[in-house]
Amino acid sequence: MAAKKGLQLVELDSDGVDENFRRDVLAGLGQLQKAIPARWFYDERGSQLFEQITQLPEYYPTRTETAILADNGADFAQHIGPGRAVVEFGSGSSVKTPLLLSAIAPAAYVPLDISGDFLRASAAELSAKFPGLPVHPVEADFTRRVTLPDAVSTMPKLGFFPGSTIGNMVARSAVDLLRSMRETLGDEALLLIGMDLIKDEQTLRDAYDDAAGVTAQFNRNLITRINRELSGTIPEDAFVHRARWNDLYARIEMHLEATRDISFTVADTQFAMRQGETIHTENSHKFDARSGHLLLLAGRWTPVKRWSDADNRFAVVLAKATIPRGAP
Ligand code: AVJ
Repeated sequence: MAAKKGLQLVELDSDGVDENFRRDVLAGLGQLQKAIPARWFYDERGSQLFEQITQLPEYYPTRTETAILADNGADFAQHIGPGRAVVEFGSGSSVKTPLLLSAIAPAAYVPLDISGDFLRASAAELSAKFPGLPVHPVEADFTRRVTLPDAVSTMPKLGFFPGSTIGNMVARSAVDLLRSMRETLGDEALLLIGMDLIKDEQTLRDAYDDAAGVTAQFNRNLITRINRELSGTIPEDAFVHRARWNDLYARIEMHLEATRDISFTVADTQFAMRQGETIHTENSHKFDARSGHLLLLAGRWTPVKRWSDADNRFAVVLAKATIPRGAP
């Protein structure tokens, strides 16, 4: 049954359980390497904890990307030009989005998000800051092609996908997403995308295992959510937070590691874990200039220009929609 929780489209069964959440958790806990998609971190508490993460001294991505956006406005104006409809994938950040919009003289702003609540809140905030700018929020799953509002159909588009959210996806899914964006935005489109960079391992691990333990709380909150929403009996005290650098795949992995042998049920299904066994809860892929550009090319975007900070921690890349032509 499709029900509306707030304004969010959620599939709820007769017990009020989110069927997609239950399906992902039961399937993920049934695997040899247990794994749950990172998107389920973001309940109300998880979203608050992520906000706290972005303020941590060890978590450099948010402040570094924000500084890149703040420092290169004139460059964005030059390479992007005025009159585009800015289509943001995700509800938008109250800090990053205004930096971009004030730099480029856009013709409209179109935030896309699956959560209507976040969407309307950030659209209202944005309208207040940019009184003359037409804002057209669209509640949609942007992993598929999205039909944009008629009001912007003839405007050239600029896709905006900050935060290195692309890094949460394995290569195959990232390419699928970039191709969907290409379909949504059309032949004249540009895309401005944030990508976190490969750097020394200690800096990366510290960013995902901070001294104050906020990231550990963020990770462990997933267990709390499963127990609350899916009638779980997972012993919360039997898990520790782990952040590992996987060098082969150039990614930080977050896991929840069992500190003893345990058994529990979730939604009436029995599971067991041995001491040391983990639930894999997140991938955060890191890039260099070439791997980032190759990913974009595979997703049918041609890199145009790249900005990074002086310490080479984070990059913002501008790409244009690839126009298909004959090989090679
Ligand atoms: C929101 C996906 C960009 O991977 O850095 C932060 C999420 N996880 N700390 C990231 C996250 C742990 C974040 N992204």
